[in-house]
Amino acid sequence: MHDFQPKTIIEPFKIRSVEPVRFSTPEEREQALAAAGHNPFLLRARDVLIDLLTDSGTGAMSAKQWAAMISSDESYAGADSFYRFEAAVQGITGLRHVIPTHQGRAAEHILFGALLSPGDIVVNNTHFDTTRAHVENCRAEARDLVIAEGRQPRSLHPFKGNMDLAALEAVLKSPDDGPRVRAVMMTVTNNSGGGQPVSLENLRAVSALARAHGKPFLLDACRFAENAWFIKTREPGQADRTPREIAQEMFSLCDGSTMSAKKDGLANIGGFLALNDGELAGRCRTRLILTEGFPTYGGLAGYDLEAIAQGLNEVLDEGYLRYRVRSIAYLGERLTAAGVPIVQPPGGHAIYLDAREALPHLSPRQYPAWSLNNALYLAGGVRGVEIGTVMFGLQPDGSERDAAMDLVRLAFPRRVYTQSHVDYLLEVILHVWERRESLRPLRIVEQGPVLRHFTARLEPA
Ligand code: F0G
Repeated sequence: MHDFQPKTIIEPFKIRSVEPVRFSTPEEREQALAAAGHNPFLLRARDVLIDLLTDSGTGAMSAKQWAAMISSDESYAGADSFYRFEAAVQGITGLRHVIPTHQGRAAEHILFGALLSPGDIVVNNTHFDTTRAHVENCRAEARDLVIAEGRQPRSLHPFKGNMDLAALEAVLKSPDDGPRVRAVMMTVTNNSGGGQPVSLENLRAVSALARAHGKPFLLDACRFAENAWFIKTREPGQADRTPREIAQEMFSLCDGSTMSAKKDGLANIGGFLALNDGELAGRCRTRLILTEGFPTYGGLAGYDLEAIAQGLNEVLDEGYLRYRVRSIAYLGERLTAAGVPIVQPPGGHAIYLDAREALPHLSPRQYPAWSLNNALYLAGGVRGVEIGTVMFGLQPDGSERDAAMDLVRLAFPRRVYTQSHVDYLLEVILHVWERRESLRPLRIVEQGPVLRHFTARLEPA
């Protein structure tokens, strides 16, 4: 009896508070999508059955998080909730100065504003959109140096988020670029590259290179726990360590970190900036007061700080991480077995469907990923997000270019959907896959000058 090794990985929680989902008919979805200008961003969430638009701020909190929120301290300055938050962040990161912010991009805004001057360079495996935008907003350059495998959708490299060490060293040693590098950053996991992890070995090497050249090394730590789990399960010699121990070592290699607690903070809002450099932290706190609030709340309620403090500890639970990564890998395996092209291997928070490959009858300017995403909605009420030519094709001069890839990201909210939701999702994708030749091109009839995907209106062409 003691040798029972279950193959089924069940949700490591019981559900005691539920939120109904609303079923709709195909006709209702047809109408809702037409009214939304064929743009899923403009749908009302109540018209979506399974919402995979993002894993950011959409997770379910635990009974312990809600309990901690009830007993928050809402004092303007020096609240107990801040000290519990600070202790939770320091317990994992070991970083000396902890500055709460209302979400990840606020930490980026404050840090880069204090750190960067025009002409500086920030090197990253791949900058997330908001990170790049904040670097460029300081008239600095955001340079991506992910390994070549990280740009190949079919490469099975276990750590496709790794930095290209030779390229990094060349930049740091270059007489032109080296002096302009103001920071070296790593995004864990690499969201823009498919949620791919970074190995501990690579983090150690990047940290050593940055330090040898006197550059601060920063972590964009949004999905640090998922990254720690991949290190535990994929990296030689790491299997016997806990996710917490691995995360602690990841942070021990860096000088500072930006974090969106809406991801691996298991909270619906919040973030932080954590730094070792006291002088830089002081300048950041001054900027924080201008835009976010006093340094012990940073734009958050005391109860948000409590939710994050508890969430940061829960997210490192092995049972939780095993279930989290397994449910996404399961979907990836079934899709791969059916021949559906996806970014391989499945990442930590999302499956990325490769629409350009799936729909060769549509050119990038006919928006294959947008068409595929809309078809998933019409067939089964599923909402993902296009990461392709609608999102990235519009150039500052108004011209249009093909994006590097046309993907549909299906990002999983944390602890929200169950195995049967995943099985249903699989059925929806396979149903659309079998009818893929009937998917129609789209054209844009209305768009804004920047970030057009949020508000554009489209029409079947
Ligand atoms: N860095 C990464 C790697 C992210 O994925 C995000 C957000 C941010 C920074 C910014 O954090 O949203 O709290 O301001 N990613 C979300 C997504 C929006 O859907 O991938 P934020």
